[in-house]
Amino acid sequence: MPPRSFLFLFICLGVCFGEDFPILTPPPSKAPRIHGALVYGSRPGKPFLYRIPCTGERPLTFRVSGLPPSLTLDPVNGILSGKAPDQPRSVVLRLEARNRHGKSERRLELRIGDTISLTPPMGWNHWYTHYHGVSDQLFRQAADAMVASGMADFGYSYVSIDDCWMSKPGSPDPSLNGPARDANGAIAPNGRFPDMKGLTAYIHAKGLKAGIYSSPGPLTCAKYTGSYQHEAEDARVFAEWGFDLLKYDWCSYGTIDRTPTVAARRKPYDLMGELLKRQDRDIHLNLCQYGMSDVWKWAPESGGQSWRTTGDLGLEKDTRLPGFYSIAFKNAVLSEYAGPGKWNDPDYILIGVIGNARDIKSPPKRTALTAGEQYSYMSMWSLMASPLFFSGDMGHLDPFTLNILCNSEVIDVNQDALGKQARVVRRTEDEFVLAKPLAGGLVAVGLFNLSEQPRKVSASWADLHLTGRKRVRDVWRQKDIGTGDSEVGFTIERHGVRMVRLAR
Ligand code: GLA
Repeated sequence: MPPRSFLFLFICLGVCFGEDFPILTPPPSKAPRIHGALVYGSRPGKPFLYRIPCTGERPLTFRVSGLPPSLTLDPVNGILSGKAPDQPRSVVLRLEARNRHGKSERRLELRIGDTISLTPPMGWNHWYTHYHGVSDQLFRQAADAMVASGMADFGYSYVSIDDCWMSKPGSPDPSLNGPARDANGAIAPNGRFPDMKGLTAYIHAKGLKAGIYSSPGPLTCAKYTGSYQHEAEDARVFAEWGFDLLKYDWCSYGTIDRTPTVAARRKPYDLMGELLKRQDRDIHLNLCQYGMSDVWKWAPESGGQSWRTTGDLGLEKDTRLPGFYSIAFKNAVLSEYAGPGKWNDPDYILIGVIGNARDIKSPPKRTALTAGEQYSYMSMWSLMASPLFFSGDMGHLDPFTLNILCNSEVIDVNQDALGKQARVVRRTEDEFVLAKPLAGGLVAVGLFNLSEQPRKVSASWADLHLTGRKRVRDVWRQKDIGTGDSEVGFTIERHGVRMVRLAR
């Protein structure tokens, strides 16, 4: 037990593990364990698809009680599908998974109403690994890998296509240079995507969701066909194809209207937001316009569920610290704008084997980030209630990368039902401290060492607006580590983090 009035543990990650890339996440047990958010939003009467995230040795048998008659369960794969109930209401489900090692239960509240994405979306996006080198095949493989790697068992669900799936006017490559649209104005995929409906059906059959990308401008950022003046057709086609998320990227829209007012900046998003709401499916709208005109202040009214707050993370210059830190610092101060169904998006998680946004032709390589930096990255994204989209290579997922992406307690912080983004408790040259209130009166705290040396980083109860004795749990190690009644602090390696959950 720690000394009387405070908890102060001196643990240096580097020394403890004596390795460069220590795996902190305990391996999942063979017995079932259901993960995932405790709330899920769907609009009344819309198609419904939810894969119960669950670790444990397969085969598993799932049961769900409280299921409305419009939904059915695939008991082998744990996939709920059908239509959401017709009327707005709350439906409490009790999920159960069993195998020969035991059973797991979890409550899931379906909130049938106008708000979708009650917790931040989780998935994979192709951009930072494959850039323009995408095809139907690649996304099928990514969906396979999301299940085979276990990522789906922790709640990752969107398999998202970014730019470059449409035609590219003027391209010398015949597979890209087909017609932009058909006779009815419907956007045409390029020759590398022969069957969009077949692709989303493939993804949906695994209980996963499909994401797509367009621009309100005539051309996307990579100069492929955009939605300008075809917004209604495109919204309809994306829904008919079966997509569940649209990333709508400003790109060439500046050639149409450069007026720097909120009204002008909102216009294309208001339009698409409205059109998506009219479709017969729930489609998460991600606004990608790099934070212009304080997008966080109006994106929810435009119909957006998430919005990029900054420029591209992959192009962010490294300072003394890698670029993701400066993106995080900009995003972290916007906590008041986040909540259920409305999330600040600081861009993707660039770890594992990943391409170089400044040189997209160079082959993907292992990230240069240290272990401490990768733990810090995932901790910040979780505490900031950011969408968790991995954008590394799904074909090269190593145990260390999966340990970063798939820690159920870290993800629980991100997916917490209260939907609060952490507030910045402290930011100095050397320290960054975030605190995220969680449902049930808990709080998650991230203590980040920004300096070049091991350093003691702590937060007092006054900093955290707490009183009384608290239990302290190390979230990465999934271990209770003591109690404290005045502060929590650790000696942390260069660019490393300790992330804890404090409870009564
Ligand atoms: C912009 C976006 C990126 C990516 C590319 C695609 O740069 O910010 O996230 O979608 O376009 O061209």
